Amino acid sequence: MTITTRATLMQSQSPVERYLNTLIAEISQIDEGKIADYIPELAKANPDHLAVVVVTVDGKVYAAGDADVPFTIQSVSKPFMFGYALQEYGLEAVLRKVGVEPTGDPFNSIVLDDVNNRPFNPMVNAGAIAMSELLRGADAAEREAAQMTFFSSLAGRELTMDETVYRSESETGHRNRAIAYMMLNSGMINGPTEEVLDLYFRQCSILVSARDLAVMAATLAAHGRNVLTGERVISPGNVRDVLSVMATCGMYDYAGQWMFDVGLPAKSGVSGGIIAVLPGQLGIAVYSPRLDSVGNSVRGIEICKRFTRDFSLHAY
Ligand code: DON
Repeated sequence: MTITTRATLMQSQSPVERYLNTLIAEISQIDEGKIADYIPELAKANPDHLAVVVVTVDGKVYAAGDADVPFTIQSVSKPFMFGYALQEYGLEAVLRKVGVEPTGDPFNSIVLDDVNNRPFNPMVNAGAIAMSELLRGADAAEREAAQMTFFSSLAGRELTMDETVYRSESETGHRNRAIAYMMLNSGMINGPTEEVLDLYFRQCSILVSARDLAVMAATLAAHGRNVLTGERVISPGNVRDVLSVMATCGMYDYAGQWMFDVGLPAKSGVSGGIIAVLPGQLGIAVYSPRLDSVGNSVRGIEICKRFTRDFSLHAY
């Protein structure tokens, strides 16, 4: 880019976008972290992709970096599926299927709460798989369609699935199978287990961009009304419950340090996305596939730390 073009571009940007572009330029110098490769297809991500998008509750979008690069949503989907279950069944019924306690264990740990056999929370795989069983529909195709419709309503556009990642998830997801069958054994799921798992693998393989995730995060910030379309997707009371679990369990076994440093409810996924929510104000999404040892995006965490520090957004 020539100097004149860059100067013209800078002038056309809002102060927030200028700030975000500077932040991206600085954070791109960090080269730590490793792309997830336990699902072979995820290993094909570009390690240099980096994006941050902020969306306000009144629908303003501020984007920098690779904001429109598609990647699979992975575990960033989990709080939303918890929201779906709350919408469809209510809190009491959902709490019979899943708890709200952090585990301190990795997301894929094969462990249930031994008092009542529930998964500890909806942010770990066991809890998310239990939520997949709650999708409504007369058959597998209808349940799959219900899932896509729900996520599309959150993003404000029609989303699609990455078939190749889905197949890779399904072919290599033996640990998730072990978790699901353990829950079948303890009566925590009842449905056809392979079909429930299939819905979970499909959920993880939904394609989003950082821009989509920021809209979804802003929808939580706006108490469940999509900030672009105005559609009511989750009720305010259910959003409160979703955000509470994100605050305590959203960042794997880093959740405590995250809350200490950033101070906002958040959720990360192994493809490198993170969302964070400032209730009543804005949603943030970052994307960078280089992960730390617990599975969080290294650059993503750094962006969130810097952004919340620079704008004093920590909840406390
Ligand atoms: O279950 C798995 O292995 C992944 N597809 C879920 C990914 C993820 O982001 C892990 N998070 N909690």
